[in-house]
Amino acid sequence: MSTTDQPWGNTVDVTFDDQIAFVYFNRPDKKNCMSPTLNREMYATLHALEVDDRCGVVVLTGRGEAWSAGMDLKEYFRETENQSDTVKMRTREETAAWQQIKLRNLAKPTIAMVNGWVFGGAFTPLTSCDLAIASDDAKFGLSEINWGILPGGNVTKAVADTMGQRNALYYIMTGETFTGKQAAAMGLVNESVPHDQLETRVRAIAKVLLAKDPVVLRAAKEVFKRVRYMDWETSNDYIYAKGDASQHRSGGDFRTGAMKAFLDDKKLKPGLDTYKKED
Ligand code: COA
Repeated sequence: MSTTDQPWGNTVDVTFDDQIAFVYFNRPDKKNCMSPTLNREMYATLHALEVDDRCGVVVLTGRGEAWSAGMDLKEYFRETENQSDTVKMRTREETAAWQQIKLRNLAKPTIAMVNGWVFGGAFTPLTSCDLAIASDDAKFGLSEINWGILPGGNVTKAVADTMGQRNALYYIMTGETFTGKQAAAMGLVNESVPHDQLETRVRAIAKVLLAKDPVVLRAAKEVFKRVRYMDWETSNDYIYAKGDASQHRSGGDFRTGAMKAFLDDKKLKPGLDTYKKED
């Protein structure tokens, strides 16, 4: 089912299948670069999907040849140059709102399915996704230095978090491109696969995630993203609190059922498999 006629507009498209919401950057003629309109529509899309029962996992991908060619040099940069400071600041805030707040902390698990070009500003939503799987031949580039700016929009932080100093600085400073295979080797994406296997692999991972307790899964990713900035004592306390809260919110049936299946019924090896209700 396509939802291009939804209130969020045409720069984003969504299809639903098997509890997966495929969210598309939908400006293929512009290599899916991100305009202020796309930024607003992406926020509205993700916000709606958080409470949409058809969506258990979000897969962020691109229509056409690109995942996303970064920020729109015309609509995001040049056309906002002469606007008031208030308008300019709002444009920045709307970008960060979907890329760094809504997507990064989405209530549902998120997978970047990297089908093609990824440039500059696109590294921020890429690293905000919980997981990322790329086509072997996808092309990545921190191209900012090639046109005279530094990697802003928190791109520098995004790569500092995921790439390691040597690779990050090499690509920040040279602006050279690298492939999906190289991105996997440096840990920027989880893995890369031949292009014709990309969707199959992403669907398989989504299926694994859909089998978990969704409340606990949400808490697990939230905890990971926050504890890295905490000291040990605060982190220990926070993790217990989130663990208790997630059991309380989920009802705890998954955990109790899994313990029974392992300890009493000897039907489950949780080291090797996920608990299913019938176990
Ligand atoms: N901003 C604005 N427009 C962009 C864009 C961007 N980031 N990326 C692509 N486009 C537009 C092109 O201007 C072109 O528009 P037109 O048809 O009106 O002329 C259209 O998308 C197709 O792009 P084109 O350059 O013709 O495709 P290509 O296949 O030859 O090259 C890229 C693809 C991605 C290598 C090239 O478009 C490019 O270098 N884009 C800029 C990438 C970048 O530096 N992004 C960082 C931004 S922070």
